[in-house]
Amino acid sequence: MLNVRDFIEKSLKEIRETVREHKVISACSGGVDSTTTTFLVHKAVGEKLIAVFVDDGLRREGEPEFVVKVLKDLRIKARFVDAKEEFFKALKGKTDAEEKRKAFRDTFYKTLGKVAKEEKVKFIAQGTIKADILETVKGIKTQHNVLEQIGINPEIYGYSILEPLKELYKPEVRMVARELGLPTEISERMPFPGPALSIRVLGEVTPDKVAILRKATEIVEEETRNLGTFQNFAVLHNDKATGIKNGKRVYGNIITVRVVVSEDAVTAQAKQVPYEILERISEKITNEIPSVVRCLYDVTHKPPATIEFE
Ligand code: XMP
Repeated sequence: MLNVRDFIEKSLKEIRETVREHKVISACSGGVDSTTTTFLVHKAVGEKLIAVFVDDGLRREGEPEFVVKVLKDLRIKARFVDAKEEFFKALKGKTDAEEKRKAFRDTFYKTLGKVAKEEKVKFIAQGTIKADILETVKGIKTQHNVLEQIGINPEIYGYSILEPLKELYKPEVRMVARELGLPTEISERMPFPGPALSIRVLGEVTPDKVAILRKATEIVEEETRNLGTFQNFAVLHNDKATGIKNGKRVYGNIITVRVVVSEDAVTAQAKQVPYEILERISEKITNEIPSVVRCLYDVTHKPPATIEFE
């Protein structure tokens, strides 16, 4: 069992000893891992830290504004970097899930590398946790924030990496976040993958497809908010299906809804969501997103499925 206070004290000491007089940037996406990391490093080195929110164009509705507000409320100096074009360019033409993750990872580190150079920073802090490392090292999937553990030297991007949470699992990160006094909207936040909506648009990622998925995601999250589940989201399929819109036969998009219960994401159970909620989600998605003709619900547990589709 983690002794949270000891962990925080030890981390603060280690961060201070490593960073010394240097400046640090912290990649903050607004998720529990990266926000806790950012707050911890800020507590350790104060004004030497600049939080960086990279807008990759793949975030959920309202997310960039949410993160800017959270950082402002925490009184952490922050920079907002618009890298939408770079991410869409890197993802263009890529259909393989692992290729997409690697393109995302490369663009992510290059973007941070540019900021590190501009800010003359030697360290980048990031919210990598134990499960990210294990899944990447075992070859289950390439997490966007794992480099050194698979033999990639971060110095190629021009900096060293600080990962104060790398020995923790998600429930322990939440304990640290609570102990640090982060708002519950952060400490209890639903996990969201680093490569964001890019791994929920199956096949090639384009701005149009992301816009469809962003809207569907908003509907699913809104309708399932009170279920107390681990993760609730939508997935846009790469293939199409026949449907009827405005009295005409159309060949349109398919959305799958996934709602899972889990402790630590290592195993997960598909939730028995009340049918009325599923029906309402389907009606809203097909009414509010013109191109979608079909809405499915995924009843598969992990294993044999994974939580995400890619
Ligand atoms: P899977 O799909 O492997 O997901 O069952 C387990 C947990 O990890 C999240 N996930 C990711 N998080 N980068 C991340 O930061 C990724 O590439 C990634 N892939 C999956 C997923 O949302 C779930 O919480």
